[in-house]
Amino acid sequence: MALGDTYRALYERSLRDPSGFWAEQAEAIEWTRRWDRVLDDSRLPFYRWFPGAELNTCHNALDRHVAGGRAEQTALIYDSPVTGTKRAYSYRQLRDEVARLAGAIAAQGVGRGDRVIVYMPMIPEAAMAMLACARLGAVHSVVFGGFAAAELATRIDDCQPKLVLIASCGIEPGRIVAYKPLLDEAIALARHKVPRCLVLQRPQAEATLVAGRDLDWPTAVAAAAPHDCVPVKATDPLYILYTSGTTGQPKGVVRDNGGYAVALAWSMKNLYGVEPGEIWWCASDVGWVVGHSYIVYGPLIHGATTILYEGKPVGTPDAGAFWRVISEHKAVALFTAPTAFRAIKKEDFEGKLLSRYDLSKFRTLFLAGERGDPPTIEWAQKLLGVPIVDHWWQTETGWAICGNFQGLEPMPVKPGSTSVPSPGWHLEVLDEAGKPMKAGEVGALAARLPLPPGTFPTLWNAEERFHQSYLAEYPGYYKTGDAGVIDTDGYVSVMTRVDDVINVAGHRLSTGQMEEALGAHPDVAECAVIGVADELKGQVPLGFVVLKTGAARAPGEVTGDVVKLVRERIGPVAFFKMAIVVARLPKTRSGKILRGTMQKIADRQPWKMPATIDDPATLDEIATALAGAGFPSK
Ligand code: COA
Ligand code: AMP
Repeated sequence: MALGDTYRALYERSLRDPSGFWAEQAEAIEWTRRWDRVLDDSRLPFYRWFPGAELNTCHNALDRHVAGGRAEQTALIYDSPVTGTKRAYSYRQLRDEVARLAGAIAAQGVGRGDRVIVYMPMIPEAAMAMLACARLGAVHSVVFGGFAAAELATRIDDCQPKLVLIASCGIEPGRIVAYKPLLDEAIALARHKVPRCLVLQRPQAEATLVAGRDLDWPTAVAAAAPHDCVPVKATDPLYILYTSGTTGQPKGVVRDNGGYAVALAWSMKNLYGVEPGEIWWCASDVGWVVGHSYIVYGPLIHGATTILYEGKPVGTPDAGAFWRVISEHKAVALFTAPTAFRAIKKEDFEGKLLSRYDLSKFRTLFLAGERGDPPTIEWAQKLLGVPIVDHWWQTETGWAICGNFQGLEPMPVKPGSTSVPSPGWHLEVLDEAGKPMKAGEVGALAARLPLPPGTFPTLWNAEERFHQSYLAEYPGYYKTGDAGVIDTDGYVSVMTRVDDVINVAGHRLSTGQMEEALGAHPDVAECAVIGVADELKGQVPLGFVVLKTGAARAPGEVTGDVVKLVRERIGPVAFFKMAIVVARLPKTRSGKILRGTMQKIADRQPWKMPATIDDPATLDEIATALAGAGFPSK
């Protein structure tokens, strides 16, 4: 058999016979009721996996392992250099903690289908909160700690939670982020009034509780009885996770229970090559989809040990932090974002810190979240001497669209490519008219429907937006929003977004949303935000503002104001640090701002004067302004 034959046979089968293929994979999950059909395609273009089936995701992540011989195996290792804490929980301990927390949540009147917001840093209680919701059939929505109060308020209004689970603070190197004042502000801003909050006090910043609304977490848990797992439909939502779209209103990506569990179990073994009982580390954050799938649900459903790391790749305390964690806990694989490796590379190019640690158990490095730049991948490969697997993902998809399947059949790695499609992903590159393009041609990456299990069935309370955003443009396909190329070997490279989403340090952000924040300044007449290339973060946002005639504030003041505005409205995670005042913005004759050309000028890429430009001098003005601000001019 030639290299790749095992993968290809499995992949082709998954497209030819999706129901048969996924029914077989579904045997990895314990169901309380079997499905009526594997795939419901009775309401096209919408699909549902495993209709009629029932299960509980928390049971599959914890209880069945306790019953099945893993009770004393470590389920979760908490390693927190920012607090100097290390703690391990066995499957039995984690199950017991989660069952009691579920009891405390249920005592607040939360049940199946109710929404719960989780606004917590990287501590074990965040994972417990998610699992406790899953246990009750409640739908969690985790909000990343780097978002501002206004972002939290938008999510509160959209999913209308009965309860918010919160820790008093997060810890960033050199700064304590008090979460509770952010929550209080968000609740004041939101139309939906949150009836209850469960507050976990951390000693670094104790929160003030609001009488009648806020409860002390340990007190509530101590008073509660353990709660059993509540079976839910495979098609019921497990969580909502908000992600950036093209407007200020984030998209509430819905994840189901059944298909997700099946896909995660398959991927842990076949993509990540991890066996039950092995130690796995995903250095992301529970606020991102990667954290949902591979810090919490995936490794636990698979019976592995997961590491939950509250720290950074550098500075906590040094660029050897990742090597320490891998060696100390004997992790067999790490999954992180390329930006983390760029940060390590910048501080310790020679890899001197690596020599202090024993990485003999370490087999594979997985990267995702943004384009893996070949120099960083090659550097990591040379340093670590293990396969570096770049794989492609989206919040919407819940697991990898493409990858290199280490547990199935490792294939050659091509730096810059995310290797080959996951089972069920029938990818094509489409031209502007929606016609499939030839191998090697760059176009819009789209996937023929149906998408495999684990992918999002809809957006929360927004089916029409789901249809419009993802399905309408290319009928019969899912539009990924990414552009790329598939080569003659079937390897997929993801080049860039086709919309105004940018990727800053592996975080997905909307420039349209930032423009809304800039536009809110009373002196700003017009604005544009673009993503410019950054050696460390991949991209960083850069704003251009045109001031109103008779603006009250001076240009230098307005640029400072808008930086503050984005931080207040979106949060520090947007990393919006710079704005430039210009006299006018370059536009087409129909009034469209030429953001793409501005970006090319800023990134020193070749660019052509657009034929449709209204006034060519405006682009020269932008080039001059960029040069004046330290960006390369044409
Ligand atoms: N709570 C509050 N603030 C946060 C935060 C959190 N959970 N996470 C980040 N921030 C803040 C940072 O403190 C920083 O604030 P500052 O501008 O006041 O300094 C800002 O948001 C930007 O943070 P970030 O872009 O993460 O930069 P960093 O210097 O803190 O860290 C990396 C750089 C490379 C270590 C970090 O971006 C990283 O690990 N990225 C990986 C992302 C990831 O896992 N993505 C998921 C896909 S795999
Ligand atoms: P998120 O929804 O936050 O996971 O971000 C998804 C987006 O990140 C994708 O649409 C891509 O633009 C980008 N992305 C994720 N993984 C990769 C990858 N391996 N290579 C290139 N881009 C990626």
